[in-house]
Amino acid sequence: MNDTSARDKWNRRYSTDDYVWNRGANQFVETYLADLEPGSAIDLGAGEGRNAVWLAGRGWRVTAVDFSSVGLEKGARLAADEELDISFVEADATTYEPVELVDLVIIVYLQLDEEGRLTALRRARSWLAPGGTVFVVAHDRSNVTRGYGGPPSPDVCYTVDETLDALGDLDVVVARVAERIVTTETGDRIALDTVVMASRLARPASAEGGLVLNGDAVDDEGDHRTDDRTDES
Ligand SMILES: C[S@@+](CC[C@H](N)C(=O)[O-])C[C@H]1O[C@@H](n2cnc3c(N)ncnc32)[C@H](O)[C@@H]1O
Repeated sequence: MNDTSARDKWNRRYSTDDYVWNRGANQFVETYLADLEPGSAIDLGAGEGRNAVWLAGRGWRVTAVDFSSVGLEKGARLAADEELDISFVEADATTYEPVELVDLVIIVYLQLDEEGRLTALRRARSWLAPGGTVFVVAHDRSNVTRGYGGPPSPDVCYTVDETLDALGDLDVVVARVAERIVTTETGDRIALDTVVMASRLARPASAEGGLVLNGDAVDDEGDHRTDDRTDES
């Protein structure tokens, strides 16, 4: 599917009075980002803006990027309802250029083919200010055969390993395949999501192998590294 037909598909999907996704933020966004100090953030593939609105409500200065004008209009209405100021930008996730480095980039269920996916992840990493974080939630590739819902094609799904590779040398905070309970008419089902959170620790140019985090030197093995990786894919 080329970009135009993909964009048309999403615009049609969002052309309803109801919100296609919850108005509330994704559960992993809430779980892992609640304690981050607010700063500047980009929501790449923001859709109808639920996660951007949640971040803005916690004090983040958010730029919500999506190629669906219809999704962004709904996001703008959601933000207005909450009296929140968010910058909504209509752009392709693989070519968008931010005007400045940011403290947080979130990518939540952005479905792209392999080339687009790797491009978006690598670019997201390059947009981080020192100390900045990339947070990714996506349909895990194992969901296609073992989980509920999500896209039927493994080609647009993520894996923890591929996501970490694309994020390069960032310090891993979370890397796991997470179970998400989906309530259906026939009972609860389990969806499998890739969840990755990785940060760029501040590294002064003069440091010889040492890292500096909040002014404290730590060793290169990374005392501050927390990796709860349980890759089941
Ligand atoms: C499954 S929705 C997720 C939306 C939002 N992140 C959320 O969690 O509610 C995927 C979003 O990615 C957007 N998208 C897909 N391909 C894109 C691209 N190449 N550039 C920008 N946005 C894209 C779609 O328009 C859609 O809003």
